[in-house]
Amino acid sequence: MSRPDPADERLAGLRQRLQGLAYGGDYNPEQWPAATWREDVRLMHEAGVNLVTVGVFSWGLLEPRPGVYEFGWLDEVMDLLAEAGVGVDLATPTVAPPSWLAHEHPETLPVNGEGRRIAFGSRCHYCQSSPVFRHYAARITERLAERYAGHPALAMWHIGNEYIGFGCHCPVSVAHFRRWLAARYGTIAALNDAWGTAFWGQRYDSFDHVGTPAARSRTVSGPNPGQLLDFARFSDAAALECYSAERDIVRRHTPHLPVTTNFMGSFKHLDYWRWAAEEDIVSLDIYAGPQDPEGPLLAGYNFDLMRSLRGGKPWLMLESATGRNLTDGRNHARPAGQLRPRSLQAVARGADSVMFFQWRASRAGAERYHSAMVPHGGARTRTWREVTALGRDVARLADLSGGVCDPAEVAVVWDWESWWALESPDHPSNDLRFTDRLLDHYRPLWNANIAIDFVRPDSDLSGYRLVVVPNLYLVDDTGADNLTGYVRAGGHLLMSYFSGIVDEYDRVRPGGHPGAFRELLGIEIDEFAPMRPGETCGLRHAGHTGTATEWQDVIDLAGAEALAAYADGELKGLPAATRHRFGTGTATYLGTSPDRETLRRLVLDCVTGAGVTPVLDTPEGVEAVRRRAADGTEHLFLLNHTTDEVTIDLVTGPDRPVDLLAGDAPEPVTGRLRLPPFGAAVLRDVPANHL
Ligand code: GLA
Repeated sequence: MSRPDPADERLAGLRQRLQGLAYGGDYNPEQWPAATWREDVRLMHEAGVNLVTVGVFSWGLLEPRPGVYEFGWLDEVMDLLAEAGVGVDLATPTVAPPSWLAHEHPETLPVNGEGRRIAFGSRCHYCQSSPVFRHYAARITERLAERYAGHPALAMWHIGNEYIGFGCHCPVSVAHFRRWLAARYGTIAALNDAWGTAFWGQRYDSFDHVGTPAARSRTVSGPNPGQLLDFARFSDAAALECYSAERDIVRRHTPHLPVTTNFMGSFKHLDYWRWAAEEDIVSLDIYAGPQDPEGPLLAGYNFDLMRSLRGGKPWLMLESATGRNLTDGRNHARPAGQLRPRSLQAVARGADSVMFFQWRASRAGAERYHSAMVPHGGARTRTWREVTALGRDVARLADLSGGVCDPAEVAVVWDWESWWALESPDHPSNDLRFTDRLLDHYRPLWNANIAIDFVRPDSDLSGYRLVVVPNLYLVDDTGADNLTGYVRAGGHLLMSYFSGIVDEYDRVRPGGHPGAFRELLGIEIDEFAPMRPGETCGLRHAGHTGTATEWQDVIDLAGAEALAAYADGELKGLPAATRHRFGTGTATYLGTSPDRETLRRLVLDCVTGAGVTPVLDTPEGVEAVRRRAADGTEHLFLLNHTTDEVTIDLVTGPDRPVDLLAGDAPEPVTGRLRLPPFGAAVLRDVPANHL
């Protein structure tokens, strides 16, 4: 019998306290006079806020001089929030070390690959290997934890903020990197072998001679790929050490409370599979552009990733924007009404919260133009009306707290190490981007309302009808054997180009490409033929003619059959996509980037072949997702991301479902459901076989 996960018990306590989904945001009271705090608490009550993240950037205010603490203001804020019944997700403030630390210990400021020290004046200005930084970070964490451990407002812990895994090149980091390499390889001979240092005579005689990989501007030719990859691993691991040290401190004081740190979704530099295993609940900050027509798609795959990181368990959306982000040169307002479907989308895909950065818009500081729950115009604004209405929606979905989405029928492989290696320089094409490749494959699935889970190459795949591998440039033997075994045992797999090429040290697998998957795919590739930017080539698939761009593999069939072929150009008539019956399963391979329509056809062909069913057929831009309540009742979310009114035909069974968002005494829904522009419905008790 498996032992209960202590995280589940901690989260049960949080759910008990919240009595529903969490609603709120980052609250930065230190930017405001105490009179505003009272107004804040009154407005929080009006909006239905029950959880706020406090203290993320407060170190310089809590410890204005080394060892001198000013907790009075935070005591007062915590008391006010406790009285108002608002829980606090209390942050360790270590992402923003105080100015005195930078002044007295400039060696705690990190050094970039150009050899330049990062200056004080923004945030994240610390070397994650620095024992001095770690000492002071542990000290403020300890003080906070001992002071607030028994405070009634304290609901959970938020360690740091958006760890970035800054690859630091200072002497302390170099020494740390050497220790990390020595632990990984044991002997310098093993490192030389892994990094292939015979090339360009880079052989090392001692770990003491190894450095961090310098920026390209400081070298004459390209870097060593093994060194680059290990530095990415090391920088991730060093950040995780910082997180874990603070987590262990707060856990000692409050073993019953959940701990998290906010992820940035498809963020390249941290292997969130490893991080998720170190926290009680996964949480996400998401800033998909309000005017981006693909915003819901971009948010959707991030939400699916968060749900997948802890095997389908609920996660928290800790930050999003009520309106404008500050991510681009021109940052647009959010169209009226869009907040509702965009926020509920997270709940549909497994979030137990809707939260924002930030509660009240700042008057000063770098993010003074970032949107907030309480905008500069206060409670007379449209945003405030939408925020309070959304609070009512979130309250109506209370039963979903703790509920899960059923495992999907389609899995999509996501591997950070492969991502790092794919985007390392000196490849046949340096333009391949992991998230572009991923989105190409996710897009047709999302548009067809086909649920997916993300998995690792070595995950248990036996429950999936189809496994999609958009790109898996690097794979170790365990991952390769797992994917091969899945197909052998009857699974359907779709894999795209430049996969299975190198081992875990970024060394080319011998015997021709794609080394790890030649047998599985029944093909041999002796040449990669990347296309020039903008170049296209005709592509024929099942009577349809489309175009190919970016990349062409020169494929020799070695057991597979051609599924699509090039219609012109140098490779005219040669296979562009193949299919191979392997064991009792089927492996489909794409050797190029087809245009969107052709790729949609190819992906949906695999979906149909695997017997996968969509949640529901809906008009374009209307998302249909299923999620269960904590008691197992099925809910169907229908979210209209468009500015048009849409109607959806529902074949409802005898027990007509109720739309939980339709007010306090909703009528059962029959036949046609009308959704206004940016409309949303959550139909309760709609079993999958009912529609
Ligand atoms: C991130 C950070 C916040 C804030 C927001 C908005 O998610 O965690 O502190 O900077 O972005 O830009």
